[in-house]
Amino acid sequence: MARRTEHQGTPQRDAARHHGGPARPGGPEPLTDRFGRIHTDLRVSLTDRCNLRCTYCMPAEGLDWLPRAEVLTDEELVRLVRIAVHRLGIRTVRLTGGEPLLRRGLPGLTAALAAAGPELSLTTNGIGLARTAADLKAAGLHRVNVSLDTLRADRYAALTRRDRLADVLDGLATARAAGLTPVKVNAVPVRGVNDDELCDLVAFAAEHGYRMRFIESMPLDAQGAWERDRMITAAEILDTLGRRWDLVPAGREGNAPAEDWRIAGTDTVVGVIASVTRPFCGGCDRVRLTADGQLRTCLFATEESDLRALLRSGADDDRIEAAWRTALAGKGPGHAIGSADFVRPDRPMSAIGG
Ligand code: 5AD
Ligand code: SF4
Repeated sequence: MARRTEHQGTPQRDAARHHGGPARPGGPEPLTDRFGRIHTDLRVSLTDRCNLRCTYCMPAEGLDWLPRAEVLTDEELVRLVRIAVHRLGIRTVRLTGGEPLLRRGLPGLTAALAAAGPELSLTTNGIGLARTAADLKAAGLHRVNVSLDTLRADRYAALTRRDRLADVLDGLATARAAGLTPVKVNAVPVRGVNDDELCDLVAFAAEHGYRMRFIESMPLDAQGAWERDRMITAAEILDTLGRRWDLVPAGREGNAPAEDWRIAGTDTVVGVIASVTRPFCGGCDRVRLTADGQLRTCLFATEESDLRALLRSGADDDRIEAAWRTALAGKGPGHAIGSADFVRPDRPMSAIGG
């Protein structure tokens, strides 16, 4: 079972352990919080819409999508990302959703964001990736993470409520061929749904040169139907894989939330993201921007800072930078999914950005 219980971490000690040192010398003043954590990773949601309806994420009928006028324009987004990179020391930017490939004009936006200088990656459900991978690569995208929970077409259709497995497999292969590598495959194992496929997913990824990662399911679905007992814990995942293969601990990539394991005698690496049972809040280096321009210091934050209002009121870069730093000063130590006082954030994951 979980080695670490579900407490809120010890940010000071963990920050010291995870962070190699201060930000680039001569670079911008780092974006720090009161626990000494340095934030260099920005997740930007490009839209809250999605073309799938994964049962662990949203209801069949979808959600009340944001009105278009509330969503940041390309110009607004590019301005915020420039401020983040040039003034706040952000080095990596991940584009998320909803489904980011649904954003109109994505290759153009990608090129403008890449020009701001961060390492740019994208998390997608893979639908439409076959069509866009080469353009996105040419625009300056570095890598993709593709969500895929099952390799069985009927199961995929039941889980996502859309019969699109073939498109995703196509998208994965095209992304690899386009050089959006390493291509990572994200799966959320759910008890009684796909928990019998963990080894198959690893074998599939190894065969095709993708990197498999399993994510513990979190209470971030729109319906509020998450049940702890249906979550497959990291310990269970490792137990299942460990019965088939010899797993060697391979650490973490920087501050990545995934703990990596290598299959002995091969170069196959599997990542496990234990957000619930082994929270990594102490090493958190992320900050999030929702599609409607709200800054969130945590997936589970219950407060947001309205950068869109600032942008639209004509604030200059100094004011936006200051608002960003103030928001970080209020960042909490971590989530408390396990404890009685855990409060679900008022937006679901699809509206925050994964
Ligand atoms: N818990 C964990 N992961 C989730 N994802 C979506 N909803 C949840 C949830 N409630 C995953 C998606 C995708 C990534 C962005 O987050 O499957 O891989
Ligand atoms: Fe869409 Fe991702 Fe939610 Fe599935 S998990 S419905 S792909 S936003």
